Amino acid sequence: MRPDLAVKAMAALLWQAHAKIAKALQLSKAEKLWEYAPFCLELFIFASMKGPEEETLMRRCFALARLANGATSPNPMVGALIEYEGRILGEGYHRAYGQAHAEVEAFGSVSPKDLIHIPKSTLFVSLEPCCIHRNTPACTNLIIREKFRRVVVSVRDPNPEVNGRGLEILRKAGIEVLEGVLAEEGRLLIAPQLRYYESKRPYVLLKYAQTANGYLGLQDRQLSISHPLSQRLVHRWRSESDALLIGSGTALCDDPRLNNRLWFGGSPLRIVLDRRNRLKRSLHLLDDSMPTLIFSKGSAPLSGFRQTKFLPYPQMGLPGLLEQLAERGVRKLLVEGGRQVLQSFIAANLWDEIRRGSSTRSLTEAEAEQAVPAPQLPPSAQKVNEFQLGWDRWEVFRNFTLNLF
Ligand SMILES: NC(=O)c1ccc[n+]([C@@H]2O[C@H](COP(=O)([O-])OP(=O)(O)OC[C@H]3O[C@@H](n4cnc5c(N)ncnc54)[C@H](OP(=O)(O)O)[C@@H]3O)[C@@H](O)[C@H]2O)c1
Repeated sequence: MRPDLAVKAMAALLWQAHAKIAKALQLSKAEKLWEYAPFCLELFIFASMKGPEEETLMRRCFALARLANGATSPNPMVGALIEYEGRILGEGYHRAYGQAHAEVEAFGSVSPKDLIHIPKSTLFVSLEPCCIHRNTPACTNLIIREKFRRVVVSVRDPNPEVNGRGLEILRKAGIEVLEGVLAEEGRLLIAPQLRYYESKRPYVLLKYAQTANGYLGLQDRQLSISHPLSQRLVHRWRSESDALLIGSGTALCDDPRLNNRLWFGGSPLRIVLDRRNRLKRSLHLLDDSMPTLIFSKGSAPLSGFRQTKFLPYPQMGLPGLLEQLAERGVRKLLVEGGRQVLQSFIAANLWDEIRRGSSTRSLTEAEAEQAVPAPQLPPSAQKVNEFQLGWDRWEVFRNFTLNLF
């Protein structure tokens, strides 16, 4: 059976089974749909894909990899599948840091009756198989032991301990290797790791919402600009990030919780820049409910916390701060404002991506007098995507001056 048809059939069966289970558990229709939304979306995207067989199967690897978005850091997201005569024998992805790699998951999902086909099968994997034993054994050992005929990869592993060595080991063992399938997309999937190995800093994603007349918010109180769907999307982005950073201005004005309440998965590390020790104990950010870092004047202006740490703001400024975060394992940093903080990252050219949501909502002239203007987009920002969500127009920009994309 063709792999795309197999997936469509699988989706239909799964939906039927799920409907029965949901009925038994007396879940409402909305709960039923909501639970399976991300999985069905991935299946739908895959089933509607067209293109050469190798690219189609590599796209499936990317979709599998993204199922663990936010869970694998500091490791990259990786997806893999095993193909034999147009049939997918098995597939898998790196589910979480420290757990089995995608190749092992894919091999483990092959039914015992199909194991006989492995020596005539092709292993597709979005990232070069590793050749080092860390939390788990080297994947090259498994591929050689099981005598795969061919391995197709999208990109090399930027980790200098691997970086081409994994492919070389496979070739030397007589396995046919093809690399570079959809390499541009493959690089995007591991952009945080590429950024880390190239610059020893996290991938920096700046995100903000602005009114139709270009304001971020009001100086003295929180202003709701975004559509509820955008708020949900932002929580998804939070779940996909290792850390989330704001300035003391936003902390004092908006009193945000900075956690993920509206999407699956966990919440990132919270970070606040507070060089003048202005934060008050009553703020949600100092509720000690989750890991939080405050970069302040001196090392501990307040005490009695378990999960909240105060660190002196580095003398080296933002480059020093990013280096410290990278050392703590942060590979993807979401910067949510406000204006001064966003503009500082832009001015220092320490950003990789900007996501800007423009609302149809405008401030009145009177409101605008008390308002904080949105940051200025740098000339290096190149738009790569845009989409509508409710009344918000979202635009995605990348920084092409930094040789990452
Ligand atoms: N629409 C949106 O998406 C959005 C998102 C967030 C916030 N906002 C709005 O933005 C407004 C707040 O923006 P804002 O510009 O006044 O405040 P902000 O950027 O949140 O915070 C400013 C403070 O952050 C610290 N800071 C800024 N740059 C720094 C750097 N390079 N290194 C270290 N510390 C740095 C400084 O505090 P210290 O000198 O004390 O260190 C500075 O006073 C509010 O109205 C809020 O509602 C809107």
